[in-house]
Parts: sequence; structure tokens; C-alpha cells
Amino acid sequence: MADSIVHCSFCAKHKDQVVKLIVGNNAAICDACVDFCENLLKDRKKPAKSTDVTSAVLDPRSIKDFLDQHVVGQDLAKIVLSVAIANHYKRIGNVDDKVEIQKVNILMIGPTGTGKTLLAKTVAGYLDVPFVVADATCLTEAGYVGDDVESLISRLYLAANGDIQRCQRGIVFLDEIDKIARKSESATVARDVSGEGVQQALLKLVEGTKCKIPIQGNRKSASVDTVEIDTTNILFIAGGAFVGLELVVKNRVQGTSMGFGATFSDSSKIDAEPVTPDDLVRYGMIPEFVGRFGSFVSLQALTKPQLINILTEIKNNFISQYKWLFDQDGVALEFDSESLDTIAERTLQTKTGARGLHTELERALLPHMFDLQHYRRQNILQVVINKELINTPMTLIQENS
Ligand SMILES: Nc1ncnc2c1ncn2[C@@H]1O[C@H](COP(=O)(O)OP(=O)(O)OP(=O)(O)O)[C@@H](O)[C@H]1O
Ligand SMILES: [Mg+2]
Repeated sequence: MADSIVHCSFCAKHKDQVVKLIVGNNAAICDACVDFCENLLKDRKKPAKSTDVTSAVLDPRSIKDFLDQHVVGQDLAKIVLSVAIANHYKRIGNVDDKVEIQKVNILMIGPTGTGKTLLAKTVAGYLDVPFVVADATCLTEAGYVGDDVESLISRLYLAANGDIQRCQRGIVFLDEIDKIARKSESATVARDVSGEGVQQALLKLVEGTKCKIPIQGNRKSASVDTVEIDTTNILFIAGGAFVGLELVVKNRVQGTSMGFGATFSDSSKIDAEPVTPDDLVRYGMIPEFVGRFGSFVSLQALTKPQLINILTEIKNNFISQYKWLFDQDGVALEFDSESLDTIAERTLQTKTGARGLHTELERALLPHMFDLQHYRRQNILQVVINKELINTPMTLIQENS
């Protein structure tokens, strides 16, 4: 059948009139038509990227659904983050040169252990854009020992597999941003290398600048190659616990001077008071820095039911992790409901957020983990943790010592 086809099925030219005729079962195509089709597909590629490839992730509700599977509570933060991410994607796919969409950087404020870093990491898992998480405390101004701020962009470039276009549309999560606050409002005179200097250095990156970053090898070598990255479209998400910010807010609301003598007259009202840019400036962030983060979102302290949810329900929850560990030695681990309640209750008192859950579990399970091999030899196949074992877990170790 194939031998009988001597004409291109597209342009009808005879095989003697073309350079090459590729013959299939019931059709053939000549080299000229292959070239033509290739060009046709090349032209289509750009718009296809902006619509087909990203349409699923463009829906903030899909992003939030994904976050819900991994992060308990923090609905408002999830919504703000989802919208920002979706808009970022739209900007990435924007093929309409007439409309230039401004990015909106995000600042997440909330107590320790409430899910700021986890939200950022989870979003990273969802995204198909280059993403880096950077600890602001490790950053220094250029010229000082440590990672200068431009190293963030180098890492983003690596995360983009050396694709400059992708790098220029990536996301940087700046963790522990509160740790680069000025130590006090009066610290402006003396140059504050670890804090204000880093904020100053970050300004340019966040605002949008062209920076030359070294590619490959030693950046101090004279012959190193560089690439230029424009940071205008890179989305910055910053997160910090801002310990003591509530005092600044309280001070503003009550109009009293800050200090140890200050009293909390209506703490629930102060808790509900939204943080203003001015509060952050008083806290020690420089106004230009705060001004570049258009969207603030506060994460809430986790409640007892939420902590229990983190222990038992959420994907990859803490208890399933420990169950797996025990299971490796053939011992089943169970918790009665009172014990879960006690763990959450004790964690609430420590004010360490979900981090405290880990501490409580480690404390309670340590003696058992120490003896797991022993249990198996004694044919103990199950450990059931109750309230008492949470409150006084260390007896085994204490007896031994
Ligand atoms: N809302 C949450 N849902 C599920 N797990 C959580 C949540 N918040 C915290 N966790 C758990 O606690 C751990 C610590 O949380 P995370 O690192 O996100 O805290 P953080 O808000 O960044 O605190 P810090 O200000 O101290 O950096 C996470 O790895 C996660 O296991
Ligand atoms: Mg964190």
C-alpha cells in the first residue's frame, strides 16, 4: 500500500518534485510541507502557554484546595496567597503587551509555628515556577561576609535550570524577615549591617532591578561568566513572627507610651486590630521596605481543635509519622483521645504553635522509642499512649539513670 503512494497528501506534489517524501500507511508528506507545519506549530506555542498550560493553576480556589490538604486553618492567609500566586501566573502568561500588570508582594505576619514557612513550602510544591525559600537572617549587604542579597537571584536562576525567562518570573520567599528589623527607632545613626543594611539592599531587588549574577564556579574568579536578570516580575513573599508587634499595635490603639508599665485593657480588641504599615515601621522595618509589600496578611495562633487536626488529620500528620517509626520495629502505636487533648492543651500553654506538638510527642515517646527493640523481643506488639503517659512520660529514663 505504502509503495503505491507517490504524491504528498498535503500539496499533491509528485515524489520526483520534492526532496523527500515521507510515506505512512495511507498518506504521505513532503519535506516542504513538514517545514510549513513546523512553522505553524512554532507560531502557536506562545499563546498556548498562557492559556492551556496554566489554566488549572490560575484558579485561586484550586490553589487553596491544595493548601487545605497540607495546612490547617489560616483561611485568610491561604486566600491572599492563592490570589497572589494566581495573578503571578497570569502575569507570566501575559502575551498582551498593552497591559502591564503590577506585581503585589506579600508580607505574612504571625506567631511562631503557625504555618508561615509551611504555606510557602506547600505553594512551592504546587507551582511550576522557580521558587526559593531564603532565610533573611543569613543575608548581608554586598561586601560583607555572608550571602549577599543577589545570591537569592542566583539560587532562583539555578531553580529555573538556567532559563533566564523563567527565573525572571519566579518567586522568592523571604523567611524570618522580622529578624532584619532595626533594633530600635534610634538606631538609624549607626549603620546596622545585619538589619537595616539588608533591608536597604533588598529594596532594589524587590522593586525591580537588573542584576548581574555569576554563573558556574567561583564568583571571585576574574573570568567568571555572568547573566543579567531583571527582577521586576519576581514575586517576593516575606514572612516573620514579629514578636512584640502586638505591643506596638496596642500602643497605637491606646495612645500610651510603650514600656513595661503598659497595660492591656481590652486585649481581644487589640488582637483584632489590623497591622498597619506604620506599626511595622515602628517595629523597625524601613518605610521603603514596607511600602514594597502591597499585601499584608496576619496568621492566627492555632486553636486546640486545629492542633489536634495537625496531629491526626492533615496529610503527613505527626502521629502517622511516629506510627510509621514504631511500625518499622513491628510495634503498633495508638493514642487515646484524652492523650491527644492533653498534647494540644500542653502545646497551647507553651505558645510555640504546632512546633510544640513535636516537642510533646518526642518527650512522651522517647522512652518507648529507646526500648522498641526490647519490646519486640518481649512480644509487646502495641503501645497505647494515654493522658498520664503524656503528663509524666520520662519515668523509664529517670529510673534507668
Ligand atoms: N497551620 C498549620 N497546619 C499544619 N501544620 C502546621 C501548621 N502550622 C505549623 N505547622 C507545623 O509546624 C511546623 C512549623 O511551622 P512553620 O515552620 O510553618 O512555622 P512558622 O510560622 O514559619 O514559624 P516561625 O515564625 O517560627 O518561623 C511545620 O513544619 C508544620 O509541621
Ligand atoms: Mg518560619
